[in-house]
Amino acid sequence: MLLALASSGWHDCGNLNRENDMKTYISQLKDHIDGQVTVSGWLYNSRASGKLQFLIVRDGTGLCQCIVEKGSVGDELFAQLKHLGRESALTVTGTVRSDDRSVGGFELALTDAEIVCPAVDYPITPKDHGVDFLLKHRHLHLRSQRQWCIGRIRHTVIDAIRRFFNDSGFTLIDTPIFTTIVGEGEQTLFEVDYFGTPLHLAQTGQLYLESAAMSFGKVYCFGPTFRAEKSKTRRHLTEFWMVEPEVAYIDLDGLLELAENFVSSIVQRVLTEHKSELETLGADIEALKKITPPFNRLTYSQVVEILISEKCVDFMAGQLAGFNAEKTELEDQIKALEKEVAGGVKKWKQEKIAAEIAQAKARIAELEVKIENNPKHARLAAEFRWGKDLGGSDETIISLMHDKPTFVTHYPREVKAFYMKTDRANEKVVENFDLLASAGFGEIIGGSVREDDHDILLDKVNKEGYNPETYQWYLDLRKYGSVPHGGFGLGVERTVAWITGEKHIRQCIAFPRMMDKVYI
Ligand code: 4AD
Ligand code: MG
Repeated sequence: MLLALASSGWHDCGNLNRENDMKTYISQLKDHIDGQVTVSGWLYNSRASGKLQFLIVRDGTGLCQCIVEKGSVGDELFAQLKHLGRESALTVTGTVRSDDRSVGGFELALTDAEIVCPAVDYPITPKDHGVDFLLKHRHLHLRSQRQWCIGRIRHTVIDAIRRFFNDSGFTLIDTPIFTTIVGEGEQTLFEVDYFGTPLHLAQTGQLYLESAAMSFGKVYCFGPTFRAEKSKTRRHLTEFWMVEPEVAYIDLDGLLELAENFVSSIVQRVLTEHKSELETLGADIEALKKITPPFNRLTYSQVVEILISEKCVDFMAGQLAGFNAEKTELEDQIKALEKEVAGGVKKWKQEKIAAEIAQAKARIAELEVKIENNPKHARLAAEFRWGKDLGGSDETIISLMHDKPTFVTHYPREVKAFYMKTDRANEKVVENFDLLASAGFGEIIGGSVREDDHDILLDKVNKEGYNPETYQWYLDLRKYGSVPHGGFGLGVERTVAWITGEKHIRQCIAFPRMMDKVYI
């Protein structure tokens, strides 16, 4: 198959049917201005206006507007194209013209087309379908512009992650998915029957990585991670991808520095390579440009002070006023658009307006939830007491108050995982951190220095009620050349959602798994 494609000259010249045309991808049109090319793809959208048609074709590398003139393609093909349904597969041939107003900056003046496979009544239309419908149709929804942009950015985020660690002297260690020991608490374990022995799916690769760090010094693992999360929040999946670095001979300051350099490198790489995708998604590009070291640093105790302060009360009131004002503005916009349609507009314009109205209504629905939750979240913050774990709404508040990500360090020992190192200067807290992304997004990284004293760790294993025999190998690491070490885990979907401005992380993985939703 590969040979066949190579010999058909797909990338450079010629193609299966048209010997003389240049078969090309939309992303390469810039190299063929005024030349004749052939593009194979799918019909993304179309509209007709008398003797002219405008077809938007996508081919996996971008979108391109094709201008079809009746005189250039003949009556029969003109009529066929006019009735071609969305997502029909087709091959188009034409002359490349540069046009700033066109999607992608180029257009094709069509001279020929071949319909490869027509699609009739494509189920996804520009109207507002609702989340459930789109998740059930994820196999098709992946073709949408939003999903395409997010998928491309996710790809680059993953590449940037690997590049950062590979270029910084880390060794990749693939940790097991069937695991015997618990890293992140028993409540979120997925048990599996492993030939009669109960094992569970990895919640983290960290404990195995700690072993590898004592061999290689700087290591990382990167893979799917499983948590039986019983929460249906926008931040939780039951299967997600996590990258975890682990470093021997590092302290908390060293970890924070590593994390801020790492996160900044990912964001800057996406900015360099995906400006147009970010624009299509409506991401805040100016805000992303500010994601450079150093990030903010607060201790958990300082966060508690902020949450219960007058400043926080005022901040929440300001937020509420902002939501209400935006809602009123959107309602006015909808009225104006409805009036425009009532006045009579062409079909394609009607569809465009319908999509705009659907978008505005979706945003209003979001705002209504925020307006309802705001007083609850304000109260939770005001009543926060030292010793509790930070909740999602508390994280959101801190995250909204800062335009750069914020490290929150030194949480109470009781609310954090058993492996975190007790701070020897204040035994009530551990040497850990969460990184709260900016713009209200909340936690994208959790990490810590690890307990390196054998007896303290054994005591913690016992207090958790774990069987010390199962943890024998992990405890061994503290017997044979134990050193200060630590690491962190970054969730890919949360990071992609934060960068793209996507509200729910389920949109940031191709086939999401959630507690109540596994459709395809
Ligand atoms: O904070 P967490 O639970 O930390 C760990 O698993 C450590 N063992 C990491 C380490 O120190 N090596 O998870 C780390 C990150 C979170 O900050 C979040 O980005 C992501 O993993 N995450 C989830 N993402 C989506 N859905 C979930 N249910 C997630 N749980 C955690
Ligand atoms: Mg965490």
